[in-house]
Amino acid sequence: MELIQDSSRPPLVPVKGIPIIKYFAENFELLKDFQAQPDDVLISTYPKSGTTWVSEILDMIFHGGDQEKCQRAPIYIRVPFLEFNVPGVPTGLETLQETPAPRIIKTHLPLSLLPQTLLDRKTKIIYVARNAKDVVVSYFNFYKMAKVHPDPGTWEEFLETFMAGKVSYGSWYQHVLEWWELTKRHPVLYLFYEDIKKDPRKEIQKIAEFVGRPLPEDVLDQIVQKTSFKKMQENPMANYSTLPDDIMDHSICPFMRKGATGDWKNVFTVAQNERFDAHYERKMAGSELHFYNEL
Ligand code: A3P
Repeated sequence: MELIQDSSRPPLVPVKGIPIIKYFAENFELLKDFQAQPDDVLISTYPKSGTTWVSEILDMIFHGGDQEKCQRAPIYIRVPFLEFNVPGVPTGLETLQETPAPRIIKTHLPLSLLPQTLLDRKTKIIYVARNAKDVVVSYFNFYKMAKVHPDPGTWEEFLETFMAGKVSYGSWYQHVLEWWELTKRHPVLYLFYEDIKKDPRKEIQKIAEFVGRPLPEDVLDQIVQKTSFKKMQENPMANYSTLPDDIMDHSICPFMRKGATGDWKNVFTVAQNERFDAHYERKMAGSELHFYNEL
């Protein structure tokens, strides 16, 4: 007898060896037609690293801190998700076609899958990295609520899958390292989630300067306040609550979950932490990158 699979949790599909959400993988060929525009800004992240946070910050910068303007549409419309493709919802490419310049674009792609046009056109890139332990905990919860992912299995199993780079978008280690290398030959502002938590004002100012839109003090203060975790958690235009439940089910876990640094300590066992640290040391050996696992 043929097994009927739950079509809402399809297995990942490799694209040039990188495991990707099946629906996204099906759309991949179309990315070849994407053309970067001169004033595009790209936000690149490994999933669960603060993409939505920096997207909201950047949209606010582009609109001079005017909150009403930033309420014009949900974040996934204001900041189109380049490789997004889920049946029944406009694709990232379709949304981009409707987006007036200057566009802010989001991607999680590893460099090997990034459309070359973004590199050729020297598109300004803001990369946000977050410590691996908080990422894996956030990702586990996200897999559960965002049903375009396969079933994550138990926490123990998911942790192993993450360490092996077999989650969607592949290896966290490779992602943070290769995008760091890109900073040496491309205009990339490489930020850390933990720094934004610690001093949002300073990091928001850095972002504004990088995109050539320095902010008056009062606007800067406004943006710090309006992009706090609490404000974004309550904001339907930022918290993904406008997506249908079969894409993101917030009753399983809200998208805006905790917004904390160090939450991993509530989840990792001592043995898991030791094993993770030893594996991390090997994967990151020789790297200049340093992450804060707590503040
Ligand atoms: P947690 O699951 O740890 O709460 P992404 O947007 O890349 O998918 O990242 C989502 C993570 O960023 C979630 O982490 C989410 O809560 C957190 N986040 C979103 N907005 C935030 C904010 N304003 N301040 C702090 N964390 C935020």
